[in-house]
Amino acid sequence: MDFNSLVAQRYSVRAYKPDPVEEEKLRQVLEAVRLAPSACNRQPYRFLVIPTAGHEAELRRIYHRSWFHQAPLVICACGLRDEAWSRRDGQSYLFVDVAIAMDHLILAAASLGLGTCWVAAFDPVAAREILRLPDNVEPVAFTPLGYPADQPHAKERKPLEALVQHWQW
Ligand SMILES: Cc1cc2nc3c(=O)[nH]c(=O)nc-3n(C[C@H](O)[C@H](O)[C@H](O)COP(=O)(O)O)c2cc1C
Repeated sequence: MDFNSLVAQRYSVRAYKPDPVEEEKLRQVLEAVRLAPSACNRQPYRFLVIPTAGHEAELRRIYHRSWFHQAPLVICACGLRDEAWSRRDGQSYLFVDVAIAMDHLILAAASLGLGTCWVAAFDPVAAREILRLPDNVEPVAFTPLGYPADQPHAKERKPLEALVQHWQW
């Protein structure tokens, strides 16, 4: 699939089949994380691969929607605060780096026919406790990873003119 078709076809999947994700596909998706660019090449992240079977109750505490634990896997993208690059004014690029790596994962998954859905509206306290995250590890986003059981929906987006300006503000 060419890149433009890939970004047009990817959508947030909110229903999943129970079919397992093949080891080779999981490896390819995680390799896309590994190859993502990051500020100063620090790669300040760790991705947790969580099997949903047997962990449904804990995952429900992290994010309550039933489709969240429907897929065979859930991925948690974590940022490592101590390893992130910061600009001279102190602005950390931790969330930017994690988001880029996560989007690599999401696009790689879509290219392999796998579904994902960014989840940021999770309970960070529950996530920290259940996943035993140390204090300097920031849970940034989750996604289920599995085969879609729903259909793509039409994309609602602002027109390009509302998103892009030329030269000055
Ligand atoms: C950073 C981020 C956080 C998101 N958090 C959630 C979420 O918590 N729950 C959810 O159902 N969708 C979440 N989404 C999915 C968006 O609602 C979705 O990407 C947007 O509506 C566009 O739809 P599409 O992904 O199908 O193109 C999130 C997306 C992003 C990029």
